[in-house]
Amino acid sequence: MGVKIMIRTLKTMFRSKITATTLALVILSAVNLTPVSAKVEIEFEKQDWSFNGIFGTYDRGALQRGFQVYKEVCAACHSLNLASYRNLSQAGGPEFSEEQVKAIAAEAEVRDGPNDDGEMFDRPGRPSDKFVSPYPNDEAARAANGGALPPDLSLIIKARRDGANYLYSLMTGYGEEPPAGVEVRDGMNYNPFFTGAQIAMPAPLSEEAVEYSDGTKPTVENMSRDVVTFLAWASEPHMEARKTMGFKVLLYLIILAGLLYATTRKLWSRVKH
Ligand code: HEC
Repeated sequence: MGVKIMIRTLKTMFRSKITATTLALVILSAVNLTPVSAKVEIEFEKQDWSFNGIFGTYDRGALQRGFQVYKEVCAACHSLNLASYRNLSQAGGPEFSEEQVKAIAAEAEVRDGPNDDGEMFDRPGRPSDKFVSPYPNDEAARAANGGALPPDLSLIIKARRDGANYLYSLMTGYGEEPPAGVEVRDGMNYNPFFTGAQIAMPAPLSEEAVEYSDGTKPTVENMSRDVVTFLAWASEPHMEARKTMGFKVLLYLIILAGLLYATTRKLWSRVKH
C-alpha cells in the first residue's frame, strides 16, 4: 500500500514541471555544496592591468612611478636581488635614460673589495651593480622586523596565486577592524588578504607617502597599482619581447598555412577527379 502511494506522489511531482525543476536544483546544490567546506579561497580586488592579455604591455609611467614607490618605501625592508640598475633603462622596462640610471645607481652604497690592503670598502653604485639589499643577511632582516622575514620581491608576483591582484589587495587591505572573535597578536597587523589574516608587515603605504612628479595623485590605490606594475615587470622583464615574438610566429604560421593551401590547390588542379 505505502509503496503505491509513494509512486503516485512521485508521478504527480514529476508531472508538474516546477516541482521537477525544484527537485533538480536541490539535488544540484547538494552536489555543489559538498566540497566547499574543504577550502575557501579569498577573492582579490580585480584590477584592469595594462600588462594582461596577449597584446598587453607595461604602462611606462606606472613602471617609473612604481620604481619610485619601491625605492622610497619598500626598499627599506625588501631586497630585489635579481634586478640590476642597468635593467631600468632596458627596452620593455621603465626605460629611464642611461643618465638617470647612472644617477639612481650612484645613490646606492655598494660593498666592494678587497682593495690592495685586503680591506672591504664602500663605493657609489654603478649601473652594472645588482640592487643593494637593505640588510646584510636574513638574520639581520628578521632581527629588525620582529622575527619576520621580508621576502625578496624579485619574483613575488609569479610566486603567488593571481599575483598582481593579490599584491594590490594586500597593499590596500589594511585598516579594517578584525571581525569579532579574531585576535590580532602583538606586533601583527590585520589584513584579510594575507594567509591567516595577520601579517608582520605594518601598512607600508599611506596617502601621499611619495611625491610624484608627473601629476599623478599619490593615493594608496595609485601607489599600489604602480608598485604592482613595477614588480610585475621585475618578475618578467622580457614579457613584451615574448608577446611580440609570439604574435610574429602566429602571423608567420597563418601566412604559411595560406600559401600551402594555395599551392596544394594549384598542384592538384591538374589532376582529374
Ligand atoms: C618596515 C618594513 C617593511 C616595509 C617598508 C615593507 N614591507 Fe613588505 N613585508 C615586511 C615583512 C616583515 C614581511 C613579512 C610578513 C610576514 O611574514 O608576516 C613583509 C611581507 C611582504 C610581502 C609578502 C606577502 C606574502 O604573501 O608572503 C609582500 C608582497 C610585501 N611585503 C610587499 C611590500 C611592498 C610592495 C612594500 C612597499 C610598498 C613593502 N612590502 C614594504 C616588511 C616591510
